[in-house]
Amino acid sequence: MSTAAPPHIRVDVLLDSHDEGSLAEAVRAGLLGERRELPPRCLYDERGSELFDRITELPEYYPARCERAILNRYAPEIVTSMGAEELLELGSGVASKTRALLYAMAGAGTLRRYVPFDVDPSVVQRSAEELTALYPGLCVHGLVGDFDRHLGELPEPAGRRLVAFLGGTIGNLEPEARAEILRALRGLLREGDRLLLGADLVKDERVIVAAYDDAEGVTAKFTLNALRVLNRELGADFDLDAFEPFARWNPAESRVELGLSARSAQRVTIGELDSAQVEFATGEEIRTEVSSKFTPERLEGELREAGLALERLLRDDQGLFSVALAAPAGAEPSANGSAEALAGGAA
Ligand code: AVJ
Repeated sequence: MSTAAPPHIRVDVLLDSHDEGSLAEAVRAGLLGERRELPPRCLYDERGSELFDRITELPEYYPARCERAILNRYAPEIVTSMGAEELLELGSGVASKTRALLYAMAGAGTLRRYVPFDVDPSVVQRSAEELTALYPGLCVHGLVGDFDRHLGELPEPAGRRLVAFLGGTIGNLEPEARAEILRALRGLLREGDRLLLGADLVKDERVIVAAYDDAEGVTAKFTLNALRVLNRELGADFDLDAFEPFARWNPAESRVELGLSARSAQRVTIGELDSAQVEFATGEEIRTEVSSKFTPERLEGELREAGLALERLLRDDQGLFSVALAAPAGAEPSANGSAEALAGGAA
């Protein structure tokens, strides 16, 4: 489906009615399974997106601040070195992060098209309107979809393409899903194109935990909001006061794990899952998110496995967060490109 809009704007909705049932199915698989976890979609309803925006402004939440500093500083070099004509952004949100990239592309005189891809239609439409007003002549081809399933349905490139997957979202995926998405991103690149990947770095545990266990308790509200979504969307009867949010560092997996712990033994009914009942013992947990932190070596290795050669690993002044610039290497992931990728090394 395409919506009629001003001349330079097009928005394709790739999600279909079939997807309405998928939240229920994902929750069924997660909550009624052995290890209780919720799909990320439970976190980002309207209130969840607002709370996440507030998280990005917290003093403890260094990823947003550091990534913005990196992009502001390096955007001109990145876009001029490759002559970027198209910016394809996954999980674009309100596109505030990418303003620096578009600005640099416009400044270099190469900006032709912006392709925002997000699961939330309202942010795609809004950024399309704002950006075409800001850059007359810019084409925006927005896509509303799920990057797990719809990356194969993207438009042909309009020229040299810069693919951006920012925010550290790659860290929310389990290793297998991460490998899969990196290979899919590799598949979007032709010779001369580049990937820009935001990834959080391993560092002092206290700095990491503070970013997810903020003094103001905004992250706790964000995590609890998942239960509100289940109550509303699936007719569940979670008592929000009966669960305590947690955020803890798992050193073995090199990641923060976020979730909710039952304050007392209780039973929850989920109306739209055929009134399934879920029993919780005191202290029993539901995981809502993982947020992996990387060493530069691990990042380079995972990129290489996906057929991507790390060209530069850009960092903020404090070395807290990174943005990797990677080029397609070899015809197929794990084909003959890996030796060259190694030789190219990190700048
Ligand atoms: C948007 C997925 C990158 O993992 O840092 C922040 C999400 N959750 N605080 C992250 C999040 C709680 C965030 N990402």
